Amino acid sequence: MDFVKFGMIGCGNAATFHAIANKKNPKLKFVAAYDVNAKRVKKFAKRHKLTPYTDLDTFLQSEIDAVHISVPHYLHASLVIAAAKAGKHVLCEKPMANTLAECDQMIATTKEAGVKFMIAENHRFLPAHQCIKDAISQGLIGNVFLVRSYEGAYENPEKIINPDHWMFSYEKGGGGALFDQGVHKFATLNWILGEVESALCWCGKALNSPPNKADDTAMVLLHYKCGAMAEVTVTTASIHPPTNRMELHGTLGTILEDHSWEKPVKIYSGHSAAEVEGEFYSPELEHGPFPKYYTISFWIEDTYFADCILNDTTPEFTPEQAKEAVAVAKLAYLAAKRKTLTTMDDLKKFIETEGEQSIFDGFDEVIQKNYEKLKW
Ligand SMILES: NC(=O)c1ccc[n+]([C@@H]2O[C@H](COP(=O)([O-])OP(=O)(O)OC[C@H]3O[C@@H](n4cnc5c(N)ncnc54)[C@H](O)[C@@H]3O)[C@@H](O)[C@H]2O)c1
Repeated sequence: MDFVKFGMIGCGNAATFHAIANKKNPKLKFVAAYDVNAKRVKKFAKRHKLTPYTDLDTFLQSEIDAVHISVPHYLHASLVIAAAKAGKHVLCEKPMANTLAECDQMIATTKEAGVKFMIAENHRFLPAHQCIKDAISQGLIGNVFLVRSYEGAYENPEKIINPDHWMFSYEKGGGGALFDQGVHKFATLNWILGEVESALCWCGKALNSPPNKADDTAMVLLHYKCGAMAEVTVTTASIHPPTNRMELHGTLGTILEDHSWEKPVKIYSGHSAAEVEGEFYSPELEHGPFPKYYTISFWIEDTYFADCILNDTTPEFTPEQAKEAVAVAKLAYLAAKRKTLTTMDDLKKFIETEGEQSIFDGFDEVIQKNYEKLKW
């Protein structure tokens, strides 16, 4: 096999990004697309020169080696399982699934089917994040004890306030900004800092969305087993082009990151191995403010997964790690609900006694209605 033939499941925003990013990728080709919306799949297939399907079984029996799944969150588990059972390798968009139980089913089924399975967590493939991970592994900033991080991803408010749109709904979206955007941060921070021990969290709504919709803004404080403290702030209501930021402080230096900068990483290190010692410097990286850094990350991520198929290797970003990012989001929601410091053990006990879904019982009462004092 010279390149991997991919079929796209879902032809919305994310699918469009992936199709454009990989237009000239020698390692993979999108050859087919499936969507329940016949009009949308026809248009998408015409634009990207693919074969359109509206029947899942026929699509899965076509000559594709792998699928890329980008559909509403509540459908991730069933479609990953169907594709794996059809013998297709699976790259599925984040968050892995709406429940930890579904994550377990996805892991078990893909293992049993012997297919490659990776969650498309593009933040694990951003050159800026790889640079930060490498700098910390090299000891350039010593032991990290404090992190502040932010994602502001402006989304069309219509999607958030429309009660029938899946995004940010408890039922289909699996939660709000804390879930949708937070998992990016949790996957990245867990990669750098290891396992989370406990959380505090505050959820708000800057937009006046209906009660079936969750937070559009959230602030989480995490305590990691390594001793580091981290703040994760996410919002979908901020008025600026989408960006991500991190600030990491260690015993030998500091790293600042902002994806809206042309050079997204600044390192200040007292280590002799640093490119420049005792002064901020910005490593040369493949980058550009949004949407460029997204396109770059999708190319790197999809090429990496195609390489795993072509070379029969196991993706370094494992489904277990993706599940852990979902678990941190659940922990934060439970902490917001309990209004107190909540540990991973508390989460485990809550799930065993109350059931995972009941984290959201009465959750609208928990969310601060910031919009009551705002004039948009
Ligand atoms: N990595 C990123 O930064 C990033 C960015 C955007 C979206 N995403 C993720 O991509 C996924 C999709 O988000 P989106 O913004 O593209 O959503 P979207 O609403 O734009 O598109 C979803 C598509 O799925 C189709 N669909 C619905 N039910 C289906 C079914 N049963 N079978 C097949 N197709 C079905 C819809 O018709 C639609 O075309 C989500 O998991 C989201 O979190 C990731």
